[in-house]
Amino acid sequence: MKKVIIYSIPIVMAIGILSCKNSTPNNFSNSLNIDQKVDSLLSIMTLEEKIGQMNQYNGFWDVTGPTPKDGDAAKKYEHLRKGYVGSMLNVTGVKDVRAVQKIAVEETRLGIPLIIGFDVIHGYKTISPIPLAEAASWDLDAIKKSSEIAALESSAAGINWTFAPMVDISRDARWGRVMEGAGEDTYLGSKIAVARVQGFQGSNLADKATIVACAKHFAGYGFSESGRDYNTVDVGTSTLNNIIFPPFKATVDAGVKTFMNSFNELNGVPATGNAFLQREVLKDKWNFDGFVVSDWGSIKEMIAHGYAKDLNAAAELAANAGSDMDMESYAYVEELSKLVKENKVSANFIDDAVKRILKVKYELGLFDDPYKYCNEEREKEVTGSKAINDAVLDVAKKSIVLLKNENNLLPLKKNGQKIALIGALAADKTSPLGSWRIAAEDSTAVSVLEGMKNYTNNTLTYAKGADVAVGKTEFAFELKINTTDKSEFSKAINTAKNADVVVMVLGEHGYQSGEARSRTSLDLPGVQQELLEAVYAVNKNIVLVLNNGRPLAITWADEHIPAIVEAWHLGTQTGNAVAQVLYGDYNPSGKLPMTFPRNVGQVPIYYNYKNTGRPSTDNPDIVFWSHYIDESNKPLYPFGHGLSYTKFKYRNLKVVKLPNNEVEVSVEVTNIGSVTGKEVVQLYIRDLFASVTRPVKELKGFKMVELEPNTTKNITLKLTSKELGFFNNKGEFVIEPGDFKVFVGGSSYTSLEADFTL
Ligand code: NOJ
Repeated sequence: MKKVIIYSIPIVMAIGILSCKNSTPNNFSNSLNIDQKVDSLLSIMTLEEKIGQMNQYNGFWDVTGPTPKDGDAAKKYEHLRKGYVGSMLNVTGVKDVRAVQKIAVEETRLGIPLIIGFDVIHGYKTISPIPLAEAASWDLDAIKKSSEIAALESSAAGINWTFAPMVDISRDARWGRVMEGAGEDTYLGSKIAVARVQGFQGSNLADKATIVACAKHFAGYGFSESGRDYNTVDVGTSTLNNIIFPPFKATVDAGVKTFMNSFNELNGVPATGNAFLQREVLKDKWNFDGFVVSDWGSIKEMIAHGYAKDLNAAAELAANAGSDMDMESYAYVEELSKLVKENKVSANFIDDAVKRILKVKYELGLFDDPYKYCNEEREKEVTGSKAINDAVLDVAKKSIVLLKNENNLLPLKKNGQKIALIGALAADKTSPLGSWRIAAEDSTAVSVLEGMKNYTNNTLTYAKGADVAVGKTEFAFELKINTTDKSEFSKAINTAKNADVVVMVLGEHGYQSGEARSRTSLDLPGVQQELLEAVYAVNKNIVLVLNNGRPLAITWADEHIPAIVEAWHLGTQTGNAVAQVLYGDYNPSGKLPMTFPRNVGQVPIYYNYKNTGRPSTDNPDIVFWSHYIDESNKPLYPFGHGLSYTKFKYRNLKVVKLPNNEVEVSVEVTNIGSVTGKEVVQLYIRDLFASVTRPVKELKGFKMVELEPNTTKNITLKLTSKELGFFNNKGEFVIEPGDFKVFVGGSSYTSLEADFTL
């Protein structure tokens, strides 16, 4: 069927701004700006076509949520042809994207192009470290670059919209989705959120190497009760305004084009039907001019929440609350037109939603060339290119955190050391890709075994020891941690006996964190703890390399194992990155973006806690105090912790007050070791007395510095009213005069401090 070009003359007559008789959405006069084009197009759309723009369907093949009903494909094709689909997700690769785009552009009445969404969470085919790992780099340029190359590779495969970054703050390591965020801190999380939006969207969305970003999940999703995914969220005004909202607001200020709402209810109202969140805060107060997509089926899920009695009520609640696009609930496409005709949803709300969506499509340049992301040659050339792999390796090595290094066991020597490499994860080429790497093929990561083998002439002997988990790993819903098989222990023990150093790669399989992968334990899964102890019994020179998507409670390991390296799930270049760090070609510089507990019972545990009326103490003689009778209050590794192969000394902390409530903090940092290294200099404040109690410490600045041995740099960081103020319980941002403390150092557990008064 050919596209029918109609309605152009009435528009010309009505608004007199179209340049020729045959004007269509694709060739409105260039003298019109985007808003005028959007208005022109809107004026010729039927109600059903408008609602179609608000409808997003999953592709016909892959899913990233509960599988749709049988027979859906036929219905989806029919809707696509009628112009009742504005967007599709999980359609990837030039061939498939072109096929659906062709229907939208060439077979529907108005030929409005689809916007094609996909979870490009940490890379497309070439995979970067999981976002939590990247956050550990504290390197905003590397993080931005990683999103930039993800945009480059995915845009070459037809995609123009990613559902990232996830900017949910979380303090609960049991929640599997902590792997997808930037950790527990609002300040660091906001900086990273901005870097990622800038990386994906670039400075010009019409550039075909950029894609639209999506800040998600608005809001509160990271505060699910007991860390169980999708669970209830109940938080007060202060937490909402001071902890949860700021990264979202930062993305709006950085020009993010889309938001995704969340599955959870927030204080009794599901986020998807929450007008306070989506209209009052996001669109009115923050002036967000992009559009909001629901999460997968979240409109319909308001029925199960006990908020909407049926799909019709769910559509009404979601549309009125400001959810602009329906992902896979079928609620808008089936119910919205009735609701508008019955005046239950205002036509203005529909127009507003459609305008927002069309605007983004115009900004992407899709109306100028709907196939601009569909070039097979470009796809071939870009996918897996050397430049992309180089950037991925760069951010991967920067994401590694050295947690412990007794007696300088690390770095390993490049010659003359007999190394035993143990652990199923060491040879695994899929697990390092981590969760949410849905376009990457299995077995495409460089394993630690391969990385280390390629790297030196040392004798390297490998033994698996034990599996991490049982069950299928592809899309891994069935991955269980109940492995009990110890039959390979003895081989591993024998290998370890004869080695100078044992490198053990233990932790979680890539699919043991991520969406719907909450855990009640933060131990090493399966029999890995037993394996570690059995190997330790024969050789104490162990370097433990952790693979995981969340903080783990590895307290025994910390007490016994001399060297511990946090290597997360680092993506395609894992083995090379780990080898470079183990052999000292890259001096580790990562710092934890999330507190590691000693025990899962301490969770939620985070560095910016409140003092309470009976402050935390570890003195067992004081009974009526805020503590545990069976565990210390202290974390295993605090937020911001991370060692280097060199050592840094901090001195001469100075605080100078500037006009307009600004404060300049300076400190001298010296490399007192024998190799060059990078340090993340961290600045924390404490507002001692305020109208709303403030945390014992809050990160308010950081700077990365590289120092050669015996050199010193003076680092200056500025605090402005933005860093010194907070939201009071009326939701007002206030800067209250009074006494402050400032702390500077290489982790949140720093003791160098000074005072100032505002
Ligand atoms: C559900 C997840 O919560 C969301 O983050 C993701 O983008 C969508 N599914 C689409 O896959």
